[in-house]
Amino acid sequence: MTNLGSEASALLTRIPEPELMDDDDQARAYAEADFAEPHNHFVQLLQETFPQLPKTGTALDLGCGPGDITLRFARAFPAWSVEGWDASEAMLNFGYQAVAAAELQNRITLKKVYVPQRDTASDTQRDPVSFPLIFSNSLLHHLADPMALWTEVKQQSGPGTLVFIMDLMRPKKRETARDFVDLYAQDEPEVLRRDFFNSLLAAYRVDEVQDQLVQAGLDKLQVRAVRDRHLIIWGQISGSPLNT
Ligand SMILES: C[S@@+](CC[C@H](N)C(=O)[O-])C[C@H]1O[C@@H](n2cnc3c(N)ncnc32)[C@H](O)[C@@H]1O
Repeated sequence: MTNLGSEASALLTRIPEPELMDDDDQARAYAEADFAEPHNHFVQLLQETFPQLPKTGTALDLGCGPGDITLRFARAFPAWSVEGWDASEAMLNFGYQAVAAAELQNRITLKKVYVPQRDTASDTQRDPVSFPLIFSNSLLHHLADPMALWTEVKQQSGPGTLVFIMDLMRPKKRETARDFVDLYAQDEPEVLRRDFFNSLLAAYRVDEVQDQLVQAGLDKLQVRAVRDRHLIIWGQISGSPLNT
């Protein structure tokens, strides 16, 4: 009993980091970093998780940043369109360029949107459109209030919407976060190494995300750790399943 208590209290406490990545140098370092391996892994896991994904539709990418996953998803699913939302102009500017360079403007729309959308008046006038697929990578740990993500997921989904979210997972010890930075961002610029370290400290553990989902009434969604530093949250919003 005493041992369990002291082990739990020794776990690394979460340290929040700033929400938006709207500093130009920070956005540039992020946009120019090579995320091919983890971002391809994201798309591969999404494919494996949802073999029943409809042939076509419009997906929502929350916290799309410079659009790297948005683009990889669009390439992997050529009959799908994607809306990417982010509140950082600096990040979106890199995203607009990347989408234009890939000539995918017909299927990818990036928008400046703060999550959750606060304007409840316009919310009530909003078209009652729900996205058949909502995905997000590395937004959750940035949010001052994690319920912002779950509120937006609820607002933008309908019966049958598929949800796939990946985020960093806070390690048990600060030293492990340092080791991850050296292991996975060894040759990256200092600004990116600093952000990665801070993001690991700001990330949630599986049990904390499960508590958030219960609080949001989204406890049908599942959570599990993948690899050493990521967790995924996935599932289908209840109601009639999608016609596939
Ligand atoms: C670590 S980046 C991830 C970008 C992208 N999803 C990826 O995986 O490359 C997190 C992004 O979330 C955005 N963000 C943070 N809080 C937000 C909020 N409340 N509303 C909209 N975007 C937000 C940041 O500006 C940043 O671009």
